[in-house]
Amino acid sequence: MLVASNRGPVSYALDKETGELTARRGGGGLVSGLSAIGPDAGALWVCSALGDGDREAVRRGVGEDGVRMLDIDADVHADAYNGIANSVLWFVHHLLYQTPLEPVFDAEFRRQWVSYEAYNRAFAEALADEAAEGASVIVQDYHLTLVPGMLRELRPDLRIGHFSHTPWAPVDYFRMLPDDIAEQVLRGMLGADRLGFLTRRWADAFTACADALVGGLGSTRVGVHGLGADADFLRARSHQADVGERMAALRGQIGEGRKAIVRVDRTELSKNIVRGMLAYRQLLEDRPSWRERVVHVAFAYPSRQDLAVYRDYTAEVQRLADEINSQYGTPGWTPVVLHVKDDFARSLAAYRLADVALVNPIRDGMNLVAKEVPVVSDEGCVLVLSREAGAHEELGEDAITVNPYDVIATARALHEALTMPVDERAEHTKRLAAAATALPPAQWFLDQLHALEETPTTGP
Ligand code: G6P
Repeated sequence: MLVASNRGPVSYALDKETGELTARRGGGGLVSGLSAIGPDAGALWVCSALGDGDREAVRRGVGEDGVRMLDIDADVHADAYNGIANSVLWFVHHLLYQTPLEPVFDAEFRRQWVSYEAYNRAFAEALADEAAEGASVIVQDYHLTLVPGMLRELRPDLRIGHFSHTPWAPVDYFRMLPDDIAEQVLRGMLGADRLGFLTRRWADAFTACADALVGGLGSTRVGVHGLGADADFLRARSHQADVGERMAALRGQIGEGRKAIVRVDRTELSKNIVRGMLAYRQLLEDRPSWRERVVHVAFAYPSRQDLAVYRDYTAEVQRLADEINSQYGTPGWTPVVLHVKDDFARSLAAYRLADVALVNPIRDGMNLVAKEVPVVSDEGCVLVLSREAGAHEELGEDAITVNPYDVIATARALHEALTMPVDERAEHTKRLAAAATALPPAQWFLDQLHALEETPTTGP
């Protein structure tokens, strides 16, 4: 069995002075989910070298068992990953364009698309080379939409699956792509025997695109697998000493007796961190009684900083936090505590002490934070959840639902969350935790694999 994804389970940082390589775990939902397969499963995980550290690791032959990192030319990778995957396909699926001026599909786009094809081909060839006769291959995400079709041509004997960790765009939005590109993406995906999505909504959106643009799904099956949180791991990890230390430090920053509205995200356009802060400011404005009694703890750790829009967004998050703090802060109270350094132990600490978790994405494939918080919460936590997060399909009943664009309604939801009676909040948290852990990562993966193995192949 083989898995393919752009980001692998580890990435390496190279110390330019000492030449030392240090490994660190990748972030995001994909790695969180797939890490459950572990080195003992006998699987091979094919991923891309992402930076200089990774490339150096490949050259030195450093690596983990069961992982093959592809040393794809850095410029080709940059065009494919930054240019196409993250600036076009990610934007399309998350509805992120400011459409009066973008997207513009020009010659530069076409040039980058050729790199995207080359990068997909490198994966297809590596998989074709590694896979045993009749093996199952599960390709991950929007970076690798062309791989199933390419691999099917190279190796008709394989069972090929593809899983999307993102939403899928509605037909009208997807059709912004040039016609031939839209068709190539769909046909690439439909090279798979089976396509997996995180929710019914995204699966239906894909099917609608296939119906509208390429005459339907053909023999490809579509299934839904809602990745859940890993309760055992999270509960054990969140009670280790380093998490306790960070809780004490956070408590110090928040102040005794104050409530905490927590959010933890990659600094990602689709996560809607800015409107979250605007809603918090609105709360302080509308209900002055909350001043000095609540703190917005926002963890927004760096992501995709090669892209100017992400750097600008990161700066805007910082600027707005500063503005709110200077507008409302008092000597003993910092209204927004913003941390931008990725620290998993600190995230768990925040989960444990949160009174309210704010998860308000514009659009999100699933959102694992919404599922992790209720699992580790010490005393119950109210979840304010965007109806546009995939997780809403499973958690909506026990959350306070918000329209992510409506800052005033979000402020109201925060107030409602802050004032929920403790027993009610504990009751919701219990149900949220149960729903959130219904399909833990290892089971999520096995379900996909079994479903793929039972799918009649489209090959000859
Ligand atoms: C989302 C995507 C993943 C991606 C992750 C982190 O979860 O679906 O494919 O790995 O974000 O983003 P990055 O660009 O840092 O890999």
